[in-house]
Amino acid sequence: MNLSIVIENDEDKRNIDELLEQINAKILFHPPKNSPYFEFKENKLRFFFDLENSQPLDIDFLKGSMGWRLKRTDHEKLLKKAVGKTDKPLTIFDGTAGFLSDTLILLALGHKVIACEQSKILFVLLKDAIRRAKDALPYLDNLKIYNDNSINLYKNLENIDLVFLDPMYPEPKKHVLRSGNMSSIRKILNIESIDDVEDNIFFEFKDFGYKKLILKRPIKAGLLDQNINYQVKGKSTRFDVYI
Ligand SMILES: C[S@@+](CC[C@H](N)C(=O)[O-])C[C@H]1O[C@@H](n2cnc3c(N)ncnc32)[C@H](O)[C@@H]1O
Repeated sequence: MNLSIVIENDEDKRNIDELLEQINAKILFHPPKNSPYFEFKENKLRFFFDLENSQPLDIDFLKGSMGWRLKRTDHEKLLKKAVGKTDKPLTIFDGTAGFLSDTLILLALGHKVIACEQSKILFVLLKDAIRRAKDALPYLDNLKIYNDNSINLYKNLENIDLVFLDPMYPEPKKHVLRSGNMSSIRKILNIESIDDVEDNIFFEFKDFGYKKLILKRPIKAGLLDQNINYQVKGKSTRFDVYI
């Protein structure tokens, strides 16, 4: 995958040195005509799928600021219940980082999170979002994020209290318009030729082992394993807990 990054001036180049190391991208001063590209402008990294696509992707944890937490209070309560009562903060492995929304809730609940995302494009967008949000969200200090296949990384980790997985799920047709984030992830995985085999990740973790695993599923999805310990159900999502 050959990626390019469009910058406005040499000053920007200094700001993105660390990012450049990770994506090995070609620096341009004008957008390429026929391929996806990053743009670093006004201190923010964006990803353009193509020139015609006017809606670039950027990740901003602070947009809507408090709205972010308020909109998710229901989800936050469910996740808190799925994690269960603990006397001390847990070390949680999020094997499906995505846009980091679930990780941010787990961090806000006081836990430490090691998050892993297979897509390099998403990973660098996340790193940039973290850089910009660090001062406003001090709990980001309790996050470590990696670009890898989760099971490979997990096999080398010790003392993980809890594994959290939110695998990709086929989109129901009527939700296509609402689920813009998931469509963007699919497009990105396609660009990177990553074959996401959805539920496989759950079975890989099941085979390897864990203390406790939370699997996020659409409410109407079938059980992936009958040996479940408990479920926490919301309106559209549920958490299947395996111990
Ligand atoms: C449904 S999204 C997760 C959304 C995330 N929970 C959030 O709150 O934004 C699934 C993500 O997991 C990533 N993923 C799937 N399998 C993976 C694997 N084996 N290793 C690393 N990342 C994986 C996909 O690339 C995708 O970004």
